[in-house]
Amino acid sequence: MAIIRPRNAKTPFEIHHDQESLEEEEEVMDESRGDMEDVEQDEEDEYSDGYSDDSDDVVDPKVQEDMDKFQETFKGIKDRFRLINRIGEGTFSTVYKAEDLLYEAYDNDWDIEEKENKWTSPPLKKRRMGMQALADMNDYAQQRRRPKYVAIKKIYVTSSPSRILNELDLLNDLRGFDSVCPLITAFRHTDQVVAVLPYFKHTDFREYFRNMTVDDMRIYFRSLFRALAAVHSKGIIHRDIKPTNFLYEPEKRRGVLVDFGLAERQGVDAKPCMCTENADHRRRRVANSVTAAMGPSNGYPKNDSRPSRRANRAGTRGFRAPEVLLKCTDQTTKIDIWSAGVILLTILSKRFPFFNSADDVEAMIEIATIFGIKRMKATGYLHGVMFETNIPTIGNAGFTLEKIILWSTCRNDSGKDGKEDPLTDEEKSAVRFLERCFELDPNKRISAEEALEHEFLREDVYSDDEEMHML
Ligand SMILES: Nc1ncnc2c1ncn2[C@@H]1O[C@H](COP(=O)(O)OP(=O)(O)OP(=O)(O)O)[C@@H](O)[C@H]1O
Ligand SMILES: [Mg+2]
Repeated sequence: MAIIRPRNAKTPFEIHHDQESLEEEEEVMDESRGDMEDVEQDEEDEYSDGYSDDSDDVVDPKVQEDMDKFQETFKGIKDRFRLINRIGEGTFSTVYKAEDLLYEAYDNDWDIEEKENKWTSPPLKKRRMGMQALADMNDYAQQRRRPKYVAIKKIYVTSSPSRILNELDLLNDLRGFDSVCPLITAFRHTDQVVAVLPYFKHTDFREYFRNMTVDDMRIYFRSLFRALAAVHSKGIIHRDIKPTNFLYEPEKRRGVLVDFGLAERQGVDAKPCMCTENADHRRRRVANSVTAAMGPSNGYPKNDSRPSRRANRAGTRGFRAPEVLLKCTDQTTKIDIWSAGVILLTILSKRFPFFNSADDVEAMIEIATIFGIKRMKATGYLHGVMFETNIPTIGNAGFTLEKIILWSTCRNDSGKDGKEDPLTDEEKSAVRFLERCFELDPNKRISAEEALEHEFLREDVYSDDEEMHML
């Protein structure tokens, strides 16, 4: 078994081979996922993955069989971990909950819970005697004996080695941020790589999103945008922001960002796009373009001589930003902000999935229905693309997000009982924030840092002392 051990955030990955694995010839992994354009998450996985992480004692016999096989074939794994259950099965990996058998033998600076417990249950102090002290001591001893859990992410062997290394490398770079799931270590056995992560207890989004109050949303998004600010501060684009990649525990009011399988460093593979040009220059280029001279045409040209445009479109259907759909060649961290906006729209509208398209063209139609032809045209020009449609349901002006939310939640159903149930001031504040996440122009869209200062997410500026003073 080879160990890929992160030393610290600055040094690149070091891969330790044990004697046995040095003797093994590294098998060439299938590169079939190498094409950037083909990498996308499967919608089915996103919406139907029903693993619950408190199902430890009920292990499906098929899952047990799968875990047994994994333990048998991946040499050395069972000496280190006891597999408990399968907790996720995605497009690129299977994730297991496991007990870390060698926890005590290692430095566990990743263990937030242990750090927190140290504060809440200190060892017995000399002055505190009696029953309470004994109970505290007992609690502490039990904590020490409590099994330590990890999540083992078995990355499918069909993933290219460079993609796997990219994920591990980015995770390594992101160590030290509380809101991002740290990488403990990684192992390789022949062509199989596993990443070992701290196990984070979380609740399935579908169980709580319909009942979230505006305050709950504020706390959820504060946590998510803190994670995004951390990731973006490192120049990293996550590319796959969606509820299943943000493990949130409503009880603890805390979430961690996982799954850097599609993440990339901003600027790598980027090519100039018109969206970064000066607006006058862009306008001139659009006005002089061949398409502008010929006017709109119906359908596709039979012999299109224009060079094909390629851009990274990795991500999940329904969460892709307009610039990804329009094949912008210079995508930025702002694509994550749009996806976070889709989560907020889902919560406010109480509909999941909110966008439910079969492909990118349909996704564009869904977005255009909300934002209208006029703004979509302007967005197209921004990236050097003409947007044309004759679909009758897409209007010129589109609809406000407020209206969309009222319709989705049947709150302006004046047909039924003639009553309107308008948005509250708090909800309106959430919508104003959503509008900033849904700026069609990525240059104007709010950044994660700015989002944390927005009226919707901003923490109370007064400390408890100051508040007391004011009272
Ligand atoms: N550290 C963790 N603690 C607890 N559960 C986890 C952890 N990491 C992943 N999971 C569970 O496993 C699921 C899949 O993990 P991940 O998103 O990393 O893999 P993936 O193959 O990219 O999945 P997908 O294709 O669904 O995005 C998560 O949605 C989550 O339920
Ligand atoms: Mg995932």
